[in-house]
Amino acid sequence: MAPMHVNDLDTPCLLLDLERVEGNIAAMAAFFEGKAAGIRPHFKTPKTPEVAWRQLAAGAVGITVAKLGEAEVLADARLGPILMANQVVGRVKLDRLMTLLARGVDITVAVEAEENIWELAEAAKRTGQTPAAIIEVDGGMHRCGTATPAETVRLAQLLEESGIRYRGLMGYEGHAVLLPDAAERESKASASLGIVITHAEALAEVGMAPEIVSVGGTGTFAIAGEWPGVTEIQAGSYVFMDGRYQTVLPGKFRCALTLLTTVISVHEGYAVCDAGLKSLTGEFGMPASEDGRIKVRGLSEEHAHLVGEGVAGLRLGDRVQLVPSHGDTTLNLHDVYHVTRDGEVIDEWPILAARKFK
Ligand SMILES: Cc1ncc(COP(=O)(O)O)c(C=O)c1O
Repeated sequence: MAPMHVNDLDTPCLLLDLERVEGNIAAMAAFFEGKAAGIRPHFKTPKTPEVAWRQLAAGAVGITVAKLGEAEVLADARLGPILMANQVVGRVKLDRLMTLLARGVDITVAVEAEENIWELAEAAKRTGQTPAAIIEVDGGMHRCGTATPAETVRLAQLLEESGIRYRGLMGYEGHAVLLPDAAERESKASASLGIVITHAEALAEVGMAPEIVSVGGTGTFAIAGEWPGVTEIQAGSYVFMDGRYQTVLPGKFRCALTLLTTVISVHEGYAVCDAGLKSLTGEFGMPASEDGRIKVRGLSEEHAHLVGEGVAGLRLGDRVQLVPSHGDTTLNLHDVYHVTRDGEVIDEWPILAARKFK
């Protein structure tokens, strides 16, 4: 497309600063250079193959997904190998997984229950496919995962007995990644990683040493990426770096995603712009401008109340760029990124996996 000015865009819309995206990808790639572990970036953040292929080109060992819908988008773009860091439960979903395998897609899924392995094995037998799986370990987040090394070993053996390719383990220290206190984050993450590694050791003792030990998020990549025995990190948010993560890891990665809005009402002490909960989420706190001079006091369906020292000079029709506190759930509401470089819109990338929550 011919370059255009940001002010020619209709609002509210997402802007993606390409230089910052490339910088974040390069910074993460540089961290992993020469390390035993690699980065398998989580696709839940960018949701566009345009970012995933750049991450792979920079040395990522594969891509992580949470949902089959995300895996299908990657498969259509011929990107992978894919690790689904989540369970595939029930006939409808297992059929979709088998279809991906029949297409020759390199995908490994997580399991944590015998019953799930039985149905996975049944689907494999029915379709003639050979799925690959890792076992999810609960490292203290208490979301999914096995509780004891003995349970993990039993599941690994069951995978092998069922003709499913056993590949290793995953854990996710999600209870640690966003802790703003670095020492507390490190101690919680370390405890979690320690648990995952005891499961890996138990597997090694029975001759089933894991090929994959996949853990980590943006808040813990540096701890997890150096942890002995860990083979890969599933960080996702670093690539766009939202407002909440900036408070956890200031300066490491740059904020690349903003929502461009237009001021539609000006008052003494506050203004209102045209973005509300239908285009911007606030579950990790209220959005703000990058320099913090404009803050959002509240969001209703289609409006944001703007306050702070930056609102004083605002006039009707002015543009305000807001950094979402949580990028992933905000971008999930949109269909395209308006890609910018040096303040000019140079491209439009469809967010192909937006709302692919099935
Ligand atoms: C299983 C799993 N792995 C990794 C991540 C990493 O995410 P982030 O980079 O946002 O910390 C998440 C986040 O939700 C996750 O659920």
